[in-house]
Amino acid sequence: MKRMGAGIIGCGSIFGVHADAVKKSGIAELTAVADIRESAAKEAAARYACDFYTDYREMLKDPRIQAVHICTPHHLHASMAIDALKAGKHVLTEKPVAISLREADEMARTARDSGKHLAVCFQNRFNPTSVKAKEVIDSGMLGKIKGIKGIVTWYRNETYYTENGWRGDRDKAGGGVLINQALHTLDLMQWFGGEVERIKGHADARCFGGMIEVEDTAEATIYFKNGARGILYATVCFTDNSPVVIEIHCEKGLLTIWEGELHITRNGERELLACDEMASGEKAYWGLSHEKLIKHFYECLLNDAADYIKVPNAAVSIEMVMGIYESSANGCEYIFRGA
Ligand SMILES: NC(=O)c1ccc[n+]([C@@H]2O[C@H](COP(=O)([O-])OP(=O)(O)OC[C@H]3O[C@@H](n4cnc5c(N)ncnc54)[C@H](O)[C@@H]3O)[C@@H](O)[C@H]2O)c1
Repeated sequence: MKRMGAGIIGCGSIFGVHADAVKKSGIAELTAVADIRESAAKEAAARYACDFYTDYREMLKDPRIQAVHICTPHHLHASMAIDALKAGKHVLTEKPVAISLREADEMARTARDSGKHLAVCFQNRFNPTSVKAKEVIDSGMLGKIKGIKGIVTWYRNETYYTENGWRGDRDKAGGGVLINQALHTLDLMQWFGGEVERIKGHADARCFGGMIEVEDTAEATIYFKNGARGILYATVCFTDNSPVVIEIHCEKGLLTIWEGELHITRNGERELLACDEMASGEKAYWGLSHEKLIKHFYECLLNDAADYIKVPNAAVSIEMVMGIYESSANGCEYIFRGA
């Protein structure tokens, strides 16, 4: 079978995870990469034996490329995805889908008009612990969800913000710990918990104040339409990258995801339900689920099936983040647009 041609825009930190996953998919091959930093594009192309471009628009003219991965700073996701869709390419964009709901809406409209597929990279939904937790919740065996807790306490230093300046810049990143580090947790909370009605929260810079324009710490209370309540705490001011904690409190038991394991607690008994496979090496904490999500994306393209994470659902976490900012600024609850 001839492999599908893939192009990746952005050859920074996450690039290799996508490039390796394309290679391992067995369905696609990396045809070209693009980066405005010529040295990064050249190096990536040499490593994966493909072509390189310094202008992604030129790469979009390459007829061998059917799908484009977007691995660039957040403010570029919307315009790059729209350009790629209009050029007749399918798109997989890294999280966040965009930095505003307006942009996300435009991306969804363009995907619909172009007839091409546009998927969002929330790979943690493919973790065995997440898949199993969702299955247990949806089965109804634990009754209704009463509460969901998400705790993200990570470490970032000044270099993290100075070496890639966009990360502390509000216009380019769209936000701080919420949109960058805690977004996967917010996404899982809404995936498990159902539709969100309103949110109240607070966000500010505790350790990096004066150095970055975005928040390094945030907390929120999330009110779901089904009556469940969510609690989020997120910071990059801790001194270590602690494992994320997600706890789902149901009428008939508790699900806990921590350290790559899902446990169920019922009637005082605790049982292991699923374990995540961990990657090895420097970026081990990113896990193996990019590989799964990317293979699944290409399987969807092969079958012309839209069974991937689509923009409207990926945009819920963006509305949660923007809702926390609005609520933090005015002290009021933010009401979701569909509520
Ligand atoms: N899913 C995950 O777990 C995960 C993990 C890490 C990063 N990410 C996401 O991946 C994206 C990239 O993050 P990163 O840490 O790799 O960033 P990075 O800064 O390391 O890399 C971004 C790259 O994009 C390039 N770039 C900037 N403007 C460009 C343009 N106009 N055209 C082409 N290339 C351009 C930069 O030169 C750089 O090489 C972000 O959206 C981030 O949130 C996701």
